[in-house]
Amino acid sequence: MGHSEFILRNQPAQKPLSLDELWMPFTPNRDFKSDPRIVVRAEGLYYYNDRGDKIIDASSGLFCVAAGHCRKEIAEAVHKQLQELDFVAPFLRAQPKSFELASRIAELTPGDLNRIFFVNSGSEAVDTAMKVALAYHQARGQTGRTMFVSRERAYHGVNFGGVALSGIVNNRRRYGPGVAGVVHMRHTQLDDRYTQGQPERGAELADDLLRFVNLYGAENIAACFVEPIAGSTGCLVPPKGYLERLRQICDQHDILLVFDEVITGFGRTGQPFAAQSFGVTPDIMTMAKALTNAAQPMGAVAVSERVHDSIMSAAQEGAIEFFHGYTYSGHPAACAAGLATLDIYRDEGLFERARELAPYFQRAMFSLKGTKNVTDVRGYGLFAAFDVESDGAPGRRGNLLQKKLFDNGLNLKNTGDSALVAPPFIAERKDIDEIHDKLERTLAAL
Ligand SMILES: Cc1ncc(COP(=O)(O)O)c(C=O)c1O
Repeated sequence: MGHSEFILRNQPAQKPLSLDELWMPFTPNRDFKSDPRIVVRAEGLYYYNDRGDKIIDASSGLFCVAAGHCRKEIAEAVHKQLQELDFVAPFLRAQPKSFELASRIAELTPGDLNRIFFVNSGSEAVDTAMKVALAYHQARGQTGRTMFVSRERAYHGVNFGGVALSGIVNNRRRYGPGVAGVVHMRHTQLDDRYTQGQPERGAELADDLLRFVNLYGAENIAACFVEPIAGSTGCLVPPKGYLERLRQICDQHDILLVFDEVITGFGRTGQPFAAQSFGVTPDIMTMAKALTNAAQPMGAVAVSERVHDSIMSAAQEGAIEFFHGYTYSGHPAACAAGLATLDIYRDEGLFERARELAPYFQRAMFSLKGTKNVTDVRGYGLFAAFDVESDGAPGRRGNLLQKKLFDNGLNLKNTGDSALVAPPFIAERKDIDEIHDKLERTLAAL
């Protein structure tokens, strides 16, 4: 493999950056290194490359920078925290901000999802939620409940639990059998195209869960995992009645319902969580990304009091109730970032702002219908996706599109030939117009 290097144009006197040593995640490394796109600064809605070009961030980084980039309040809170208390073991010791942040998150979660377990990423949140589900059934003597139900086209992170739940073939095909006993419902994308909001058709797809109950026996199923809106795979909005039906089947058969809200959590749908937007409360909920506005890595699992209390009361007095945790669970700097972030969301009314901007944003995205290469648009809240027609090699045109968009001053995330648009909540109508115009112009010339 040849050597690649890059001269930063804002620091031409420095020695070139070697690109060889870094193995980049979820990136065609050879392609990137032959034609790198490097960001050196960010502020508000914009990234800046080393030439000083402004690039509007149409996917909030990776759906995480909801309050806009480089928020001073968050940076200062982290700085102060690291000077005051940099670290204390989260096992057997604690620091006040982890309790404070857990209480603040519990104020936002629906129902009795009031017990919060901290992790460092969405992937860790998913694997933690799987363990909570198993521990809950064990605590109640239902030791046979070890199977998980997931869904085609699901993305639940990259750890082995999440990969087993995954419904995206490339994320699983190289990694062996992984966690046994995971079965997948069908995904919810039907043949209809350009459906705005929740599709009218498709609620009956939730009955796939019932088929697994009939095939394997409810007494063997621990939990059903879904993203309320399947995100990474291209914003698949749940059909009307679908999540309600899953809830009903889970209740009837004592199966835990888990919502993976790593993308949808913290205002993306106009409510704190998609659970509230769709009026369905799960038993366990995972979150990460916008929890700290991406200023620190952090995730969390919100667990219903019922589930939590069962696990607590099954353990002997004085014993550890749940054998799980990470060195950096509830890291002081991450907690400080989380608290500062939630303050911003509250003080600036950003969830309401997302809700108010959503119809304008959705109109702009659906007006891409008819643009060259676009074959479908889907969306809900401040989240939308459009598909471009494959050029024969799946994902090649999507990758080309994201590169050309970046060169034209717009950053977004693609998954294969789907492009995911999720602007920060501080965006205004003029910013949506800029995103729309850049998309339209770049698509037309693709
Ligand atoms: C629904 C969902 N779950 C889990 C994850 C994994 O999160 P992380 O990349 O922080 O591990 C993601 C990431 O995009 C996600 O969208």
